[in-house]
Amino acid sequence: MKDTKIIELLNEMTIDEKIGQMVQVAGDIFLSDNIDVSTGPLKNLELSNEMLYNVGSVLNIIGAERVRKVQDEYLSKNRLKIPLLFMDDIINGYKIAFPIPIAQGCSWNTEVIKTIARISAVESNIAGANVNFSPMVDLSRDARWGRVMESVGGEDPLLGAIYARATVEAYQGKDISKLGNVASCVKHIAAYGAVEGGRDYNTVDMSEREFRQYYLPAYKSAIEANAELIMTSFNILNGIPATVNKALIQNLIRKELNFKGLIISDYGAIEETIAHGVSKDEKEAALKAIEAGVDIDMMSKIYANFLKELCLENKEIENKVNESVLRILKLKNRLGLFENPYGNSDVKKEKIYLMNEQNLKKAKELTQETFVLLKNKNNILPFNKNKNIALIGPYIDNIAITGSWCMFSDKSKCTTILDAFKKKVDNEKLFYAKGSEILRQDEINSILKADGLPTINIKNESEEEERLIEEAKDIAKKSDVILLALGEHYKQSGEACSRSNISLPENQIRLINELNKLHIPMVMILFNGRPLQLNNIEDKLDGILEVWFPGTMGAEAITEMILGEVNPSGKLTMSFPQNVGQCPIYYNHYNTGRPHIDDLRYVSRYQDIPTESFYPFGFGLSYCNFKYKSLKLDKKEIKKNDIITATLEIENQSNNEGYEVIQLYIQDLYASVVRPVKELKEFKKVYFKPNETKIVEFKINVEMLKFWNENLHYKAEEGDFKVFIGSDSVNTLEDTFVYYD
Ligand code: BGC
Repeated sequence: MKDTKIIELLNEMTIDEKIGQMVQVAGDIFLSDNIDVSTGPLKNLELSNEMLYNVGSVLNIIGAERVRKVQDEYLSKNRLKIPLLFMDDIINGYKIAFPIPIAQGCSWNTEVIKTIARISAVESNIAGANVNFSPMVDLSRDARWGRVMESVGGEDPLLGAIYARATVEAYQGKDISKLGNVASCVKHIAAYGAVEGGRDYNTVDMSEREFRQYYLPAYKSAIEANAELIMTSFNILNGIPATVNKALIQNLIRKELNFKGLIISDYGAIEETIAHGVSKDEKEAALKAIEAGVDIDMMSKIYANFLKELCLENKEIENKVNESVLRILKLKNRLGLFENPYGNSDVKKEKIYLMNEQNLKKAKELTQETFVLLKNKNNILPFNKNKNIALIGPYIDNIAITGSWCMFSDKSKCTTILDAFKKKVDNEKLFYAKGSEILRQDEINSILKADGLPTINIKNESEEEERLIEEAKDIAKKSDVILLALGEHYKQSGEACSRSNISLPENQIRLINELNKLHIPMVMILFNGRPLQLNNIEDKLDGILEVWFPGTMGAEAITEMILGEVNPSGKLTMSFPQNVGQCPIYYNHYNTGRPHIDDLRYVSRYQDIPTESFYPFGFGLSYCNFKYKSLKLDKKEIKKNDIITATLEIENQSNNEGYEVIQLYIQDLYASVVRPVKELKEFKKVYFKPNETKIVEFKINVEMLKFWNENLHYKAEEGDFKVFIGSDSVNTLEDTFVYYD
C-alpha cells in the first residue's frame, strides 16, 4: 500500500480504532469458543469486547493454522480490516531449540549468532510471526539475575554490540515483508541488567557516563542496524521508570539515536508505573506513557481505557496518538500485511521447513561452538570409547534442556545423553544411574507454586536420595570414568529467577562428594543459565564442560564432544564468581585507589575469598594446547587516523585440530576519568591444524581508545596505553604504546 493510502486510512479511523492499534493482548483469546473479555484470561484487562476487535497486535500466538484462524476471526469484526500484528518471544529458536542466548555468545562467532537467528526467523515467519521480541542485549554483570541467560553479549559491551547487529540483520534481512524475515524488537531499554542485588524488576541507579560507556553500545548497535522496534524495560533509570522516561525515550532514543521505529512497553509496564509511585492512577500512567512516546501498551488496560479521555481533553495527546498509529500502520505496511494479512504463514511450508534435517544437523554444529571446557585435568577428556563409562545424574536421561524461554519448541527430536551414548559406544561398557533429582522437593515446589502449578510429593525423600546415591556408587565401581550431568533446573534461570545462592543444589553436591570417595576420574557436564559458584566442588572433578541449556541437539552435541569427535572452542562471556558474595563481578572493572595485593590488609579485597573471579571472562580450554608468544607492535606511537599492527605467534602444541578465540584488550593507563583495567577491543576465532603455528595480526586504531569523558563527550585522550593479547582476559601477553593527538 502507498504511504498516502496509509494516511487516508488513518483519517478514516475513529478515536477508538486508533487507540486499539496501540493495545497489545495475548492472542489466544481469539481462539476461545466464547470470545468474551469480561470472562476468561483477559478479564483483568477490563477491555470491552468492541476494543478487542480493534487491538493492533497480539503476543505469543504462533503456528500457521492458529495465526490464520486468529486473523480471520479478528478481521471478521474489524470495521476497516486492518490486520493484526503477531509478535512472539522466539528467544532461542521456534521449533528447533538452539542454545540459550548466553551460550550462543560463548561461541565468539557472529556466524553462529546469525545462523541461529536466520533459522529461527524462517521457522517462525512461516508459522506466522511478524515480530520477534529479540535480541535481548542487556549488559549482565550479576549472576544472581536470572535473565543473564537471555543476554547474548554477557558482561561485555563490545560483544553485546556485535551480536546485537548480527541478530537484527539476520532477522530482518533487506525487506521484512519477504518470506523468512521478521521485524526485530531489541530489548529491554534501558540498563535492565543492572538491577540492584541482581533481583529481577528491582531498582537501577547509575551515572549517565557509566550508562553510555557500558550499557548503551548494544542497544545503539541494534538501532543502527535498523531494528524495527524497541521494548522498554521494567526498571527505573535516573529515578523514572524507563517506560515513562522522556529523557530516555525522546532525547536519547528518538533524537540522539534517531530511532524511527515503534516503541512497545514491556508486559504491563505502563500500569506498573503506579506501583513504582510515579503515576498516581491509571489515567496518569496513560498520560505519562503517551507523553514519553510509547506506541504500544503490552498487556495492560491503561491505553485501552484512558487514552480516549486524554485525547478529548488535550489536542496534543491526540496528535501523539496519531503519530503512534501512523508508525504502527506503516510497520504493518512494510510487513506487507495489508496485501496479505496472513503474512508468510504457510501450513505446507511449515511441513517442509520446520525441524528439517539440514537445520537440525546445522544446529548440532552450532551448539558445539557454544560449549566451554572449564577444566581438563591430565587431559581426562576426550574419553576413550573403550573404557567403561558410568553416566550419572539427573540430566543424563532428560530432555528438559531447552531453557525457560523456549516455549514452542518441538521436543520430538530431542534425544537424551543416555540414548546418544548408546548409539556411539559398546553398550556392555555403559552404565547408567540417575544419582539424584535436580532439586529437592521443597526447592522445586516453591518454584511450581509461584507458577501456579501443582506441587509434587516424594514419599520418604531422604531414603530415596540415599538409594539414588547408592545405586550411582554401584555402577561407578564398575567403571573407569564417571560422566556426571548436573545443573540448575531450567526454571531456575530466566525471568523472575533471581537467586541469592548460585551453587549447585545441595542434593547434587552430596552426590559429587559421595562419588568422589571412590577415587574414580570424574567429569561434569554442567546445565545452567547463569555462572554458578563452583569453588565448592571443582577440586573433586577432573573435568568440567559447560553446556548451558543447549537445546534440541544438545545431547548429541555433548556426546560427540565428550568422545573427542569435535573439539571445544567456546569462551565465557561472563566471569564466574568465587562465590555469590563477589557478585556483581566483571573483568572490565576499575583499579580503585587500593588495588588488591596479596596479604595486604587495607586494599580492595574480601578477607575470605580471592579478589579475582573463579573463571575469568574470555576463558575456555580446548583439546589443543595453544602457546602464545612473540607479541610485537610495529610502532610504539599512534596518532589520529594511524594504525598500529600487533602480531604474535600462536602454536598448537597438540595433535588435535581446533579453533582458538584470540582476544585483544586495551587499558588506558591514565585519563581525565578512571578507565577499566582492561577492555575487549577485538577478537578472532582462528582454525589450527595439528601442531600448526600461525602468525596472527590485529590492527589497533584510535577509535578503540575513545571513551565518554566527564562532559559526556566521546573521545580519545593522549597518553600511555597497554595492549594485551591472549586466550582470555587474564592470560595475556602485553606491550605498551603512546597516543598523541
Ligand atoms: C518480558 C519480555 C517479553 C514479554 C512478552 C515480559 O515479561 O520481560 O522480555 O518479551 O514478557 O512475553
